[in-house]
Order: sequence, then C-alpha cells, then structure tokens
Amino acid sequence: MADRKPFIGGNWKMNLHADEAAALARALVDGLTDAPAEVAICPAFPYLHQVGEILSQAQSKIQLGAQDVHTDPNGAFTGEVSCSMLRDVGATVVIVGHSERRHVLAESDVLINAKVRAALDAGLDVIFCIGETLQQREAGMTDAVNWGQIGYGLAGVSSDHMARVTIAYEPVWAIGTGMTATPDDAQAAHQAIRAFIRCGMFNDAVADRVRIQYGGSVKPDNAAQLFAQPDIDGGLIGGAALKADDFLAIIAATQTVAASAG
Ligand code: PGA
Repeated sequence: MADRKPFIGGNWKMNLHADEAAALARALVDGLTDAPAEVAICPAFPYLHQVGEILSQAQSKIQLGAQDVHTDPNGAFTGEVSCSMLRDVGATVVIVGHSERRHVLAESDVLINAKVRAALDAGLDVIFCIGETLQQREAGMTDAVNWGQIGYGLAGVSSDHMARVTIAYEPVWAIGTGMTATPDDAQAAHQAIRAFIRCGMFNDAVADRVRIQYGGSVKPDNAAQLFAQPDIDGGLIGGAALKADDFLAIIAATQTVAASAG
C-alpha cells in the first residue's frame, strides 16, 4: 500500500469571531507538538490574516487554508476573493466545492472546476469536496455521483497538479448531522473513488499518491475507526474542529492507526 501521510483539515465555516479564532489557533499551536498528520485550519476570510500571523509567529507546521476562492485574479467581482489575495495573507490551501457551496449556494461543477484549476495554477493546494445526498445514496448512486463530480471537477488538471489535490469525500447526509458513514461504507466509497482516479481519469501513480479525506460528523470517538481504513487518508472536520481538544484528539487518532498498523 502506498505510504500516504494523513491530512486533517479543520473547516471552521462561518463560525468563531476574532477572539475565538485567535484563541483556538493558539490552543492548536500549543497542543500540536508532534504532528502525526499534516494539518490545515480554515477560518472565515476576515480572520485569515490574524490566524496566519499566529501560526507563522509560532513557526507552526499547521497550514492556513481558506474555505473558498474566486476564479479570476482580480476585477469587478463584488464580494469575491482571489487566489493571490489568499496567498498574500499566507494561505497555502483552499477548500473547493464544499457541499454547502454546491447545494446551498448553487455552485455548479463547471464553476468548481474553474476554481480548482485557478487555485492550482496560482500555487495553492486544493481540498476538493465531493459526495452524494441521502436520496442519491438510497438510489444506489453513490459511486456514480462521486465519479461524476470528480470527472467534471478535476477535468483538465494535470497529473503534476494532482500532487497538490486532496479529495474530501463528504456524504452530504453526514455533514453536521451526527450521522457518520460506517467505516465499511466510507471505505467502499473511497476505494471506488481511488479506482476511478486510477482507471478512469489518471493512472497508478496519481491514484496511489492522492489523499482522500473522509468528512461528515467525524468526532474523537469515531475517528480512529475511520482512519484505520486503507483508503481513508485523514478527514475534513467541521463541528469538531471548533474545539481544540476534539480537533487534537482527531489528529492524534491518525497516530493510533499508524501505531497499530506498524
Ligand atoms: P462536520 O462538517 O464535521 O460538522 O460534519 C464537515 C464538513 O462540512 O467539512
């Protein structure tokens, strides 16, 4: 099996004001002494700079991420933020295609693909989110939906650029609901995603290297079982990323897995 370092993302969504964001960033910096996984935290736009300063002053290995980005480098796009602006404030990674943007804000596969390519061209790493709704799962369409979203979303991305893409499989029905995919169901979806990367879109090298995070109600008490699955390479964490103890426990769960595998 390929040696992929797990990657844990903290998606703070539209939560935490300045003081809370700073306090959480400091608690994570202090608590994360030995990182068994790569870690990124993604505050809301107004706090990126502040959180980035905390991370860089502490010389922390925690990466700064944004939750979205616009496709164009600048211009008349009221309310939008460009890749170079994100880089200016120290962000190195950006979440694209989160289900809340797909379903609540009606982002299309075409727009998401343009964002993925713009971010990669600008040197940002991308956490590219996919996942099926409950209705689609019940209709047996999980793999078809995931493959479709990957097919559109990663169209035109080179194998080289794929080295900077992490896929986040987040079943829509599991996000923020307390319902988690079972480790077996999640593994089955991840395995099918990797197979599509291998045979449908890229090749063995990309498929073996690409990290596939699981997201959707990951908590300290279910993280280790999920991360123990061979095709699950960490997680994208929402609710549990807002509490330092929970987020640190989830990061530590990647180590439990590494230790028991070794
Ligand atoms: P959740 O969110 O952990 O609160 O389910 C995950 C996400 O939306 O990335």
